Amino acid sequence: MGWNTYNTFGKEFSEELVRGTVDYIVSSGLKEVGYEYVILDDWWSLDKRDSAGRLVPDPVRFPNGLKVLSDYIHSKGLKFGIYSCVGVETCGGLPGSFDHEYEDARQFAEWGVDYLKYDYCYKPFHVPGHVLYKRMAIALRNCGRDILLAACNWGYHDAHTWMRAAGAQTWRSYGDISDSWSSIRDTILSQLNRECYGGIGAWNDMDMLVVGMNGKGHVAAGGCTHEEYKTHFAVWALSASPLILGCDIRNMDENARSILTNRDLIAINQDPEGRPAYTIKYWHDCYVYVKMLSDGKLAIGFVNLGDKANDVSVQFWDIGVPTRGYGLSMKDVWSGEELGVIRETYRRKVEPHACHVVLATLVED
Ligand code: GAL
Repeated sequence: MGWNTYNTFGKEFSEELVRGTVDYIVSSGLKEVGYEYVILDDWWSLDKRDSAGRLVPDPVRFPNGLKVLSDYIHSKGLKFGIYSCVGVETCGGLPGSFDHEYEDARQFAEWGVDYLKYDYCYKPFHVPGHVLYKRMAIALRNCGRDILLAACNWGYHDAHTWMRAAGAQTWRSYGDISDSWSSIRDTILSQLNRECYGGIGAWNDMDMLVVGMNGKGHVAAGGCTHEEYKTHFAVWALSASPLILGCDIRNMDENARSILTNRDLIAINQDPEGRPAYTIKYWHDCYVYVKMLSDGKLAIGFVNLGDKANDVSVQFWDIGVPTRGYGLSMKDVWSGEELGVIRETYRRKVEPHACHVVLATLVED
């Protein structure tokens, strides 16, 4: 869980902006609910390495260098993330880490980096992607500091079949999200039947959150309704995806805050067993998500990706709960309302683009 500069600020970020965001993560309670990594995405460096071959933070936007910023982030009990790329350049055209992996990893360790987002642009054609991620994974493991490798190859080259073995601790499984319902829906659909690939040690990262962007910022694409942002957050939570905030949290509205700090959904997302939900296709663009939790409860999402309201139901038989002798005591995760004990089947009308989520506890009759 954390926050990243890219979705809202693109190239336009500085030490001042990051410090202000860090202060807000602490004062607003976002830290308390679990948001931890503060990540500088592409465009923190100059367009050339120095004469010793080192990456150089932009001195205008980071006048005190990155170690001072990293110390500040750490002093607030948060962690510091940075960005580089497997290729000769980053996606934004700045120096990449190709063939500099080991020096760069040592440099990141000196700056107190805790997380490296590692992109896939300008990759030499003849070098397999898995070798490049392995190089950085080994370099980070031997740089003297615990640095998480967050791979970002957009799911290319069947990443789900090799990223875990290549040493990434999180890996992006699809292309870039933008602040629109169609982008959220496409990302959700891209993950169906891939549920088994994410988990402890190598989390499937569905990309940063657009909740709260409201049509403004670098990946603006029209914005989403409150209901659509709720569905976005709920599906990311049920899928055990990293939750990396992408809006300008300093100016976040109450709707965004209520979604991003929903404690039940965060607990579902962070469940220690780290199981992603499996999905049952219902009908007409409706899906039921079931996430088995370590305490015996089930988190169940009823998702309507279609443009018309639909009834969505789940037969308990299909999720492993006997039809006789047991029921599920349900709580609505958005409203907090107790729905009582339900038996055999649960049916619910779900509005277009909405997601109804319940926490279900097994009860014996
Ligand atoms: C993309 C990546 C984005 C962002 C961007 C920066 O490849 O998927 O999340 O990091 O590069 O240029």
